[in-house]
Amino acid sequence: MPRLRDLDLDRHLADPALKQEFVTPMFDLIAPRYDAFTRLFSYGMDRQWKRDLIRRVVALAPPAATVLDLACGTGDLAFGVARAMPHSHVTGLDASPQMIALARERKPGVVGAPEFVVADMAAIVRPDSSVDVITAGYGFRNTPDHRLALREAARVLRPGGVMVTLDFYRPESALWRALLIGYLRAAGNIVGWLWHREPVAYGYIAPSIAAFVSYRTFAADLSAAGFEVVYIDVHLFGGVAIHVAVKHS
Ligand SMILES: C[S@@+](CC[C@H](N)C(=O)[O-])C[C@H]1O[C@@H](n2cnc3c(N)ncnc32)[C@H](O)[C@@H]1O
Repeated sequence: MPRLRDLDLDRHLADPALKQEFVTPMFDLIAPRYDAFTRLFSYGMDRQWKRDLIRRVVALAPPAATVLDLACGTGDLAFGVARAMPHSHVTGLDASPQMIALARERKPGVVGAPEFVVADMAAIVRPDSSVDVITAGYGFRNTPDHRLALREAARVLRPGGVMVTLDFYRPESALWRALLIGYLRAAGNIVGWLWHREPVAYGYIAPSIAAFVSYRTFAADLSAAGFEVVYIDVHLFGGVAIHVAVKHS
């Protein structure tokens, strides 16, 4: 397997056919330290954003819901939803086998704990309209084609079902974009080198945000995929947002 630093990051990010080839080995590499990195570099805000997302889900979902957490990583949101909605059935899916292994280690065998599967969120092995709720934390930005993944989410969600997403978005202000992305680039490269001897391991975050859409464009993409966007919670001047969307009946 090539070292991450030997791959052409810009080319892999720009080409949907190549992006997954970079993204999955990168998340496999950083999986053991991913949660610590996220807490550190969001100055703890990640926890609050995830709490807000779960609060939105609880307000809109039936108590015994079938829930899919897309790009679940080590399972933060999946466990959070399962705790907040003890009668629900939660499945977390992620493309990274290492992330899924860590998620499964968090509470093996506990009744009511989520199930975890290695899977591609752009090709979900579920029938049409079979899921009540979808959550996704920093998921759609990391897929090769977020519009394709949105259409797949719309396919498996039942009409009237709710999807709540949290992610970083390309800030619309050029000045703020340069500051936020510059900070994430510098901090990510330093920590990537210190922790993994692979600057690009976290250096990837900044270009992935620069190459992504704004939170407003993401809302338009949700609408185009068959959702009604009912609420957007904007943070960091458009650098982060929680979208609450309901699938059209
Ligand atoms: C930034 S992490 C987010 C983890 C978790 N949701 C959280 O909020 O902490 C992004 C995750 O997206 C996953 N991912 C990337 N492409 C994917 C795909 N096509 N299908 C499913 N998961 C994918 C990665 O493996 C990684 O675990």
